[in-house]
Amino acid sequence: ENRDIKSLLSSDSAIGNQVTVRGWVRSRRDSKAGISFIHLYDGSCFDPIQAVVPDTLSNYQQDVLKITTGCAVEISGVLSESAGKGQSCEIQASAVTVMGWVDDPDTYPIAKKRHTFEYLRQVAHLRPRTNAFGAISRVRTTLSSAIHRYFHERGYHWVNTPIITASDCEGAGEMFRVSTLDLANLPRATDGSVDFEEDFFGREAFLTVSGQLNAEAYALALSKVYTFGPTFRAENSNTSRHLAEFWMVEPEVAFADLNDNAALAEDFLKYIFRAVLEERPDDMAFFAQRVDKGAIERLESVVQSDFEYMDYADAIDILRNSGESFVFPVEWGLDLQSEHEQYLAEKHVGRPVILMNYPASIKAFYMRMNDDGETVAAMDVLAPGIGEIIGGSQREERLDVLDRRIAELGIQGDMGWYRDLRRYGTVPHSGFGMGFERVVNYVTGMENIRDAIPFPRTPKHAPF
Ligand code: 4AD
Ligand code: MG
Repeated sequence: ENRDIKSLLSSDSAIGNQVTVRGWVRSRRDSKAGISFIHLYDGSCFDPIQAVVPDTLSNYQQDVLKITTGCAVEISGVLSESAGKGQSCEIQASAVTVMGWVDDPDTYPIAKKRHTFEYLRQVAHLRPRTNAFGAISRVRTTLSSAIHRYFHERGYHWVNTPIITASDCEGAGEMFRVSTLDLANLPRATDGSVDFEEDFFGREAFLTVSGQLNAEAYALALSKVYTFGPTFRAENSNTSRHLAEFWMVEPEVAFADLNDNAALAEDFLKYIFRAVLEERPDDMAFFAQRVDKGAIERLESVVQSDFEYMDYADAIDILRNSGESFVFPVEWGLDLQSEHEQYLAEKHVGRPVILMNYPASIKAFYMRMNDDGETVAAMDVLAPGIGEIIGGSQREERLDVLDRRIAELGIQGDMGWYRDLRRYGTVPHSGFGMGFERVVNYVTGMENIRDAIPFPRTPKHAPF
């Protein structure tokens, strides 16, 4: 019976059975009594399983005693209750087969001792073998499946929006250009450099910064949709919160206003946080022990309490009267910096804050103008310790107002199709974008966003 370690450790129904497990060795310890203990993990859960290997195995001297951390092995034997502390069961091994040796144990980059996260970023291809990155990977899986489950249970359709696009949704000019490159006929300049077309088959194209505009088209037909895919930003910023490539979840709902949107964001976040607490207690215990003491309590309290709803204008007052000395100025009309978001969410409220109704001048062209003519129906969800994890808005559904905004902001490109959505059966609609990696960090307490995604792309990390 081939089993994953999770299924063996999580129920005692298999005790007494002959089982086979496959995975990678975390450690080997030999006792004087001629028994070796091998800890094996396969990624299915946090804990490795212990195999008790007697020296009576025919390949004990030849193989077992040479097994080192990182070797891939298959172990068969009878599952039995464990006498050891902290283990529910163990395997009394009757066969151990080494499937993949570690070439040179002395230079294996992920030896059993602890490593800094900074070091592990340099061996991103091997770091999933560590406790921390196994746990982060499983939390990503749980969050992803909870995200899809949340929307599917509520009748949303998953829309796969394009990655190659001509429109700069956020209007921030932070797009990577897409160009055609004929690999077979690379025209080389005399200096050897490659000459290529700076366009997509004759037209300008970019990697998308957001699937929102396309999601709007589908929301105005299917009523409730969401995207969940990669997005790209050519921000040359080296912060612990920015990636050049990150994943975004973007629900878009017809007949919904800003309050509906905020309520959706709150309900959605609580649902996916609850999923992590329920499905990944082993990994969360690790984060609480090694990364961020309060990780579990924080998440539990967020799930149980109401988010704080606050107007941008009130937030400005609070910040101005805080007595804090911020690096960046605080004034109505200025965008909030990370330090301001941190103050509001962490110090002032101590829970997630949904900040609403920002000045139009600091927000994107598609946000719905409020009656005051100065603010837009925008919202950001600010999380303690992280800052902005969600950005969203009610969309401008009135063609004349939208046209004015497009002209004012000098939005380039073909807006014809987007305007059509306002010409043919327009309705109020709203949506938001949740940065997946920021949420991974919020949940786990990990500090650097480069550790929230398997292979981070930043100005300083060369792709591989
Ligand atoms: O606030 P943003 O720019 O909003 C939009 O793109 C909207 N079109 C979304 C929508 O309404 N459908 O980005 C949304 C979220 C941010 O709140 C943040 O969590 C995350 O995406 N984000 C990043 N995450 C990692 N690295 C970056 N460089 C990010 N930029 C934004
Ligand atoms: Mg934003």
